[in-house]
Amino acid sequence: MADGSGTQNEQAVFPVPSSIAEHAHVDNERYLEMYKASIADPEAFWGEAGKRLDWSKPYTKVKDVSFDQSDLHIRWYEDGELNVSYNCIDRHLETRGEQAAIIWEGDDPNQSKTVTYHQLHEHVCRFANVLKKLGVKKGDRVTIYMPMIIEASYAMLACARIGAVHSIVFGGFSPEALAGRVNDCDSEYIITADEGVRGGKNVPLKKNVDEALKHAFGVKKVLVVENTGTQVAMKGGRDVWWHEAAAGVDEFCDPEPMNAEDPLFILYTSGSTGKPKGVLHTSGGYLVWASMTHEYVFDYKDGEVYWCTADVGWVTGHSYIVYGPLANGATTLMFEGVPSYPDASRFWQVVDKHNVNIFYTAPTAIRALMREGEAPVKKTSRKSLRVLGSVGEPINPEAWLWYYNVVGEGRCPIVDTWWQTETGGIMITPLPGATDLKPGSASKPFFGINPILVDADGKELEGAVDGNLCITDSWPGQMRTVFGDHERFFQTYFSTYPGRYFTGDGARRDEDGYFWITGRVDDVINVSGHRMGTAEVESALVAHDSVSEAAVVGYPHDIKGQGIYAYVTLISGVEPSDEIKKELINWVRSEIGPIASPDLLQFAPGLPKTRSGKIMRRILRKIAENDYGSLGDTSTLAEPEVVDELIENRQNR
Ligand code: PRX
Repeated sequence: MADGSGTQNEQAVFPVPSSIAEHAHVDNERYLEMYKASIADPEAFWGEAGKRLDWSKPYTKVKDVSFDQSDLHIRWYEDGELNVSYNCIDRHLETRGEQAAIIWEGDDPNQSKTVTYHQLHEHVCRFANVLKKLGVKKGDRVTIYMPMIIEASYAMLACARIGAVHSIVFGGFSPEALAGRVNDCDSEYIITADEGVRGGKNVPLKKNVDEALKHAFGVKKVLVVENTGTQVAMKGGRDVWWHEAAAGVDEFCDPEPMNAEDPLFILYTSGSTGKPKGVLHTSGGYLVWASMTHEYVFDYKDGEVYWCTADVGWVTGHSYIVYGPLANGATTLMFEGVPSYPDASRFWQVVDKHNVNIFYTAPTAIRALMREGEAPVKKTSRKSLRVLGSVGEPINPEAWLWYYNVVGEGRCPIVDTWWQTETGGIMITPLPGATDLKPGSASKPFFGINPILVDADGKELEGAVDGNLCITDSWPGQMRTVFGDHERFFQTYFSTYPGRYFTGDGARRDEDGYFWITGRVDDVINVSGHRMGTAEVESALVAHDSVSEAAVVGYPHDIKGQGIYAYVTLISGVEPSDEIKKELINWVRSEIGPIASPDLLQFAPGLPKTRSGKIMRRILRKIAENDYGSLGDTSTLAEPEVVDELIENRQNR
């Protein structure tokens, strides 16, 4: 057993608590049995697993997949028909109509509400009828740019009900970022709110939409939910108040039968190159994956209250606030606020207020709360908690131990869940009743997942080793394409190691077969669990008139996991100053959003380049990490002296 100190952490093993093991869905023996079966015969395993959903037309085919360039396709349950909203709502009405489906907790601690499955049905049907009234049809893309109000979940489920494809853009993104995403998927409809509220501050969502629509010309209708009641401009013929449109619409709306492979949603995510990609997920396989992982990974039991603190603007909110839990008839908590408002006790007060049994958050939140000490935690009870979860980035053993010992009082297993927007749901994770825990390790693959580690040439590595993480075969929740760019789908995920899905992550496997995710091996930075492409931040910087060149890298950051470090070369005639630094940081905020703001910005008269003009990022990363003693060979640089200048003026000391 661990004592929580220093270097022993990585060796520490926390056995499954017997209180959990006794009642868990699966113990280790059962996990191994099911895992073996899922790998040996995926058709049989997923054929059976698909029955957890209600199909209006049952499938007869289970899996049809090729990762080859000439014929790249991924299909699951391809002749089946179902409706996702029916599966998340209607099928529960008979048995749990009066049970809480969603508990909504406001940013203001005095505001919360509970919506039963019956009420959810009515709200979603109305919302769906409003969308129909606006002209939304099956297959249309609907952009959702909303705060964490309960209507965001109605909007998602209403789209699913009528077969429209939602594309949620996180409310923290700028008008420019919103416009880019609206245009990329030719979205003619936007759903938004007058304003959002987070941490006591108002976010001008409708105003941002108006700004975005100066660069997005295809939008026909903007549906606006009244939230704070602030005055906003409404453009005649285009902008529609939700409450006005909803007056008099029917409270029933038949769910549209959808093919299993009809799109459910698009979600934009950053990669190492180019614009954000529209990750496309479809209906049947995605919902099987979201619901099955939700049940097993969190060991969800009927009647429990489950809380995932993510925002619906990220994939975690899609799969583990809305689709997974509701497909399972769970009670899911949706939180509008932030962990630090009104104070650092908020999470635990919400846990006590609603008797939360399962709590799922990100390491960055844990690290931020850890800094505030134990007192804000200890003044709450947290007795209802049974299982804790972590997602989004590697959790350092120190934060893990604090989460385990202080928050969970040593009684709650932590499931450190590794997955991606692209994977639709959790891929590598402990199971509460089955897996002995090692702080910092995402541990073992979920059913059907065969993770392998390969070297730079694609050779599969055996035993305890470090390598690039690939998945050998498809799983039902896998993304199906990059919206509008199938070739990019191939190039991004299947071209590096032919025949395999390449995750972009590095990982280590230990002697016990546990996986330890070491982080991205491409030019993606993980800031507070959110993915940011360095290329995106660079192109925002060079779009500024004073910038001639920019290079962006990540560096270790105590709270965010990784921070953004920007090297900027100004055009001749513009002198470095604190004012221009501030201006550039604000510029990036307004071009992309606050999550993309550089934490450190260094003016660089020149960037280290090879003679062929390629920026040597390895060197820039080392300097940003304040590890300039081991730069390696710099003799191939066109101008080796620029490195000395960069070291001299480094910002991270
Ligand atoms: O690098 C991995 C990291 O987050 C990336 C996926 O980011 P995104 O698509 O935004 O999805 C985040 C929520 C699923 C991965 O490539 N990551 C995610 N979870 C973990 C993680 N790294 C280590 N441990 C995790 N549990």
